[in-house]
Amino acid sequence: MKIRLSFLALVSAATAFPSLQRRGEPLLPYLVHDLPGLDKILPDDVPLMYSGQVELYAENKTHYYFWKHLDKHKVDRNHNRTTFWLNGGPGCSSMDGALMESGPFRINDNLHVTYNQGSWHRLSDMVYVDQPGGTGFSYTDNIDHDLDQVSLDFMRFLQKYFEIFPQDRANDIYLAGESYAGQYIPYIAEAILRHNQEDLVVYNLKGLLIGNGWISPNEQSALYVPFSVKAGLLSATNPHMSAILKEQERCQEIVSKIDAATGADTVPQLHDFETDTTTCEGILTLIINATLDPTASKSQQCINVYDYTLRDETPACGMMWPPDVSALALFLREDEVMDNLNLKQKNRWTECDARVGRTLKARNSIPSIRLFPRLLEQIPIMLFNGEHDIICNTMGVDSMVLKLKWGGQTGFSENLPPVEWIHANKSAGIIKSERNLTVITVYNASHMVPFDKPDVSRALLDLMTGDYDAISGMSPIAATHALDMREEKPSDDPVDSSTTSRITRIIQFAVLLILFWGLYGLYSSYRSRPSSIIKTSSAQNSAGSTGSRKKNVQWAEQLRRFQSEEQLIHTNTSFLSKAINKIKGENRGNYTPPRSFSPENARPSLELQDLPRASTDHYLIDDEFIIASDDESDHETTPNAGPSLSPADPLVSGNHKET
Ligand SMILES: *[C@@H]1O[C@H](CO)[C@@H](O)[C@H](O)[C@H]1NC(C)=O
Ligand SMILES: *[C@@H]1O[C@H](CO)[C@@H](O)[C@H](O)[C@H]1NC(C)=O
Ligand SMILES: *[C@@H]1O[C@H](CO)[C@@H](O)[C@H](O)[C@H]1NC(C)=O
Repeated sequence: MKIRLSFLALVSAATAFPSLQRRGEPLLPYLVHDLPGLDKILPDDVPLMYSGQVELYAENKTHYYFWKHLDKHKVDRNHNRTTFWLNGGPGCSSMDGALMESGPFRINDNLHVTYNQGSWHRLSDMVYVDQPGGTGFSYTDNIDHDLDQVSLDFMRFLQKYFEIFPQDRANDIYLAGESYAGQYIPYIAEAILRHNQEDLVVYNLKGLLIGNGWISPNEQSALYVPFSVKAGLLSATNPHMSAILKEQERCQEIVSKIDAATGADTVPQLHDFETDTTTCEGILTLIINATLDPTASKSQQCINVYDYTLRDETPACGMMWPPDVSALALFLREDEVMDNLNLKQKNRWTECDARVGRTLKARNSIPSIRLFPRLLEQIPIMLFNGEHDIICNTMGVDSMVLKLKWGGQTGFSENLPPVEWIHANKSAGIIKSERNLTVITVYNASHMVPFDKPDVSRALLDLMTGDYDAISGMSPIAATHALDMREEKPSDDPVDSSTTSRITRIIQFAVLLILFWGLYGLYSSYRSRPSSIIKTSSAQNSAGSTGSRKKNVQWAEQLRRFQSEEQLIHTNTSFLSKAINKIKGENRGNYTPPRSFSPENARPSLELQDLPRASTDHYLIDDEFIIASDDESDHETTPNAGPSLSPADPLVSGNHKET
């Protein structure tokens, strides 16, 4: 069976690109012939795949890994589009995207691939790239430390990629990704647009899609407290509140300083206080500590920072989420799989690489929000945000946009109505769009929108490309041209009676043609019909009603785990002690309880990701380090039975319960 499938894959590769196949030697080493479980997926659903490590620079052995997925059945909607998908971190592999989010597969417990019904490859060729060097299956001797290097390297990758797939060079190109990719993507977009001005070979960059992006770190961090309060995670009566508010004030001072310094400058300049995010990011750590519930069962003691409707063990607090990650790692470490993926160098795959996270500090890179005004003059940008994420939460993005000056105006127009997004007959989110910027709140979704809402997330591409129906007739989305074509333009012209019968015949003929064409269209694209409708009429109501809906939050990949070898071995240290040991420069030293903990001692929350598997009993509460009892057994609580959203603080006083 496997052999036959491989043969089929070869045949379809040959038939899909006959012209390439002729001169197509460079493609063959990258073709993916098989994967465990592929034979159980409907042949129509199995994408045509290419995968491998491409050399960027021989001198420092830099190779970028990519995995490309194409629909074998090209229809208009997925023709001539290439979307590059990037996960964040920094240092987290885009295999998260390929195997848990927008990609065609999920990995089941048997370490087999299964099909994702919401796969984006039905709408666009998808290319998942591990970058920068050192991330996932990409490798290098020289890890980037700033974002201009990241974008330069990606341009080099594009050049190499188009040498392998020259027919893609004329495609519409989209950049999509999540979390810290909110830094990568604008930088890369700017590099592409610059390239287009200087080079004869233009890349048709058509739009950017950023999910729960980490775009303006200090500004976004300043909204952790308001968001947590609004989400019901943190109340004014929390005993840690005064300490938290003190840090909040310090953070707000930094943000004000940034506003004052950057408000006027047209050519963005680098300010130290802008790139140092330690203070503001530290607030999230305080909130986590303030909302720990050591009386809960082990799996429920901490907020999951990527989805506030979930709780997690300490000190992971979301770092080991989603649970699919463990199967993913086992799958990608299988020798057979690495062979299937044509790896020249078989690195042991880790979701997030600690060295990359530590090295890419971007201390000489202005936050990507400052690139937005120029970018928005040239391309549409969509920011989509799962409403349950804490780390890169909706309020942070809204607040950032409120202050952003683009297209001759600051923020969205005050009278711009939010628009309700209906997908598959259900309310899927709220949209605001103006002057090439679209901000979407996606209901019931976490930090990883395509993980929770595969089908809805794919429709984001429809919104970006204008493939939707608008009820009110007024398009909220940047790509208005596509909409205009869909709108009926009834003609009121009275028809001259003498020509009526001829016209009737023409109409009959046209109707037949349209019917035929329609049937064909239905046939060829029924699986990926646009099912999004955008409604301006009831928008206000819906927007209002979201306020009272239950909210969930999650952190950015900013705080995502770094499963370095070291952490897997030293699983007994607490995550805070790790962070603190790092400050002292001893990665392996014994843990010494700190006298006091304040955000300026803490590393940026990045380091907090250096989480060992949750097995620790240390909780840091205010000035004390409290060791919880080990025999605190897990009372069997029903997993997934509605997370307790009432953080209590019994460690401290036992009196205060949030409501
Ligand atoms: C939006 O982008 C288009 C190019 O896609 C550009 O022509 C237009 O000027 C931009 N609009 C604004 C308000 O900058
Ligand atoms: C939406 O509802 C209509 C009418 O109830 C139904 O015909 C249609 O199939 C539904 N569409 C989807 C995508 O569920
Ligand atoms: C969100 O989730 C809740 C609970 O799971 C459900 O009742 C509600 O219908 C969902 N809303 C949307 C818009 O999917």
